[in-house]
Formats: sequence, structure tokens, C-alpha cells
Amino acid sequence: AAAEKQGFRHYMLKEIHEQPRAIRDTMLGAGVVADDVRFDGVDLLGKGLDACARIVMLACGTSFHAALIGRSLIESLARIPVEVDIASEFRYRDPIVRTTDLALAITQSGETADTIAALKEAKQRGAQTLAICNVLGASISRVADRVLYTHAGPEISVASTKAFTTQLTMMVLLAIHLGRRTGHLGAERARALIDGLQDLPAHIDNLLAASAAIRIVARRHQGARDCLFLGRGLCYPVALEGALKLKEISYIHAEGHASGEMKHGPIALVDNTMPVVVLAQRGPGYGKVLSNLEEVRARGGKIIAVATLGDHTIGDLADDLILVPDVAGELQPILASIPLQLLAYHFADLKGTDVDQPRNLAKSVTVE
Ligand code: G6P
Repeated sequence: AAAEKQGFRHYMLKEIHEQPRAIRDTMLGAGVVADDVRFDGVDLLGKGLDACARIVMLACGTSFHAALIGRSLIESLARIPVEVDIASEFRYRDPIVRTTDLALAITQSGETADTIAALKEAKQRGAQTLAICNVLGASISRVADRVLYTHAGPEISVASTKAFTTQLTMMVLLAIHLGRRTGHLGAERARALIDGLQDLPAHIDNLLAASAAIRIVARRHQGARDCLFLGRGLCYPVALEGALKLKEISYIHAEGHASGEMKHGPIALVDNTMPVVVLAQRGPGYGKVLSNLEEVRARGGKIIAVATLGDHTIGDLADDLILVPDVAGELQPILASIPLQLLAYHFADLKGTDVDQPRNLAKSVTVE
């Protein structure tokens, strides 16, 4: 087993380090050209784009967080309405599904019972179906009309890392593909996004080099029993995922919230024992995030800020600062996820939990 971990202490750490390769492979597999993503001629929408009035995304766990980001990307780049539902909720609420809907299941394993059942439900109600999956020939491929594969490679650790960032990559690729076809995304902007995607592996390598620094951050907050994660816009689901990752493997109670919702409840939890991880990327809403930071600080909360490289304001407000390269907003969730994965990993490893096999969890949940 030691050999399979290629010198890493855990599969999770190995898989975190595989992300540059995994993202590159996912782009290759999608048929990326200079200003378009072709998916090699696969007609994703079956009846064609004109017949697609809405996309309904169905997923569980980490894949659900990828779907939330996908919704914003597709709505903004392609202007197609998107809904997202937790697979286990979708089937039991008598959902409205039309023959003009595309139901899109997102599942790393392709074996999650709830996701398969939800996609079947949508199909029965007349929707076209598509799946995004990481495992060739998985069960979901027998339900979906079409499948797009992420190329993360086998993910052994229960906590999803490279599968998540390749799903996010796929969301950007799909949004570009659809945007080019609806005509809402011009060649120039598509080209800039694709160039940005090509640069991600190098940026991720740089972020991975900060692993030791992030371990020091984790050590400083080692005694924490609870932790909040705040983000807005595309980084709100990143906050949800950061909290999920931390609780899954370190058993520290963690909650992710939209920054703007902090004042409606979570702020009541903040005291001087509480680390608050704030995703404070530059972009729309940055000013509001700064005022959230002030509020947390005023209550003694310990701020771990994930901010944009070159941000010289935020340092004064944060106890710990993790800097992420300045990239297009659409790509920020991918980069912002990396330090949060490392943070969760180091918290867990310092605590001595079974990082790759956390208690009570399974890699894929094949019962409903
Ligand atoms: C389990 C795993 C999670 C995963 C979820 C959905 O809970 O522990 O890491 O996100 O299932 O899995 P899927 O294979 O459908 O993406």
C-alpha cells in the first residue's frame, strides 16, 4: 500500500497533489480548442439546444457542491436556467419535469443510489438525461442518455478532492460549450477562459507548495471544536465544501454559510475560540466580505482568510492569510478549494484520525 501512495502519507494527500494532472486530462478529454469546447461532437442535449428550456442538476455530497457552482456558471455564460437539487430530495417532492428539461446527474462514482434513482425519475417524467461521472462504465451510464467523463483517475480516499476539482473544471467546460452554442459567450471571452483553464495546473502546483504553511495554520487552531466557513457568489459552495471536508475527516464541527447570511444566525456562534475561514477573493462583493471580517473580528473570532494574491488590505483583518493567484472569477472556486483541502487534511492528520477511511462514511453510498 505504501508504494501505491507514492511516498505520500495518505491517499488523500496523494490525490490532492494529482489535481494539476487530473484537470489537464479532463480538459483533454473534453475536446478543448482555442475558443470552444467540442465534446467531440457528442450532442449533449439530444433533441438539440432549442429544445432545452432548463437544466436540472441532481447530486449528493461533494458532487452537489459542484452542481451549485455549475448552476451559476451555466446561467451566466449560457443564459440557460438551471436548478439544482439534492438527489435524495428530488424524487420525493413530486418535482415538475418537462420534456424540454435536461436532467444532469453529477456523480464521481456513478454508483450513488439516490443520484441514480433521481435521474431515473427525471427520465421517466420525460427529461433528456446526461451524467458527469469519473468511472468508466459505472451504473449511471446505463441510465443516462449520454455521459461526460471527468478524468480524475481512481479516487481512493473517501473525502473527495481531485474528483471535485475536475467536476468544477467540467462545469466551466460545459458552460463554455453551451454558451458558445446559445451565442451568449463570444469567442474572445471563451478564449480567455480556456487560456485561464490551461494556466490552472501551474497555479495549483504553486498552491500545493504552501502545504507546510497551511499545516502551521491548522496547528495554531488545533484545539478548535467548531469552525465556520463563509463565502459568497461562486465561492459560497466552496465554503460549503470546505466545511464538509473538515467535518468528514477531522470530526471538527464545521458549517459553511453564504457570507451575507452570517448576520442571520451563524454570527451568534462566534467567540474567541472559533476559527472562521473566509473566502475573500477580489471581485464583486469583496467590500461586503471585508465588513463581514470586521464583524467576526469584533466578536473575537479568529479569521483565516483566503484572499487574492496582491491584496494588501486584508492582512490587517486576518489572523492567518492564505493567498490564491488572481484568476477569472469563473475559475476562482477551483483554486480556492485547494487550500481548504489542505487545511482539512492537516487538521485531521494533526489530530491523528484515519484520514482516508473516516468513521461512519463510505466512498460511495449504494443504498438509498
Ligand atoms: C459519499 C462520499 C462523498 C461523495 C458522495 C457522492 O458520501 O463520501 O465524498 O461526494 O458520496 O458521491 P458521488 O460518487 O455520487 O459523487
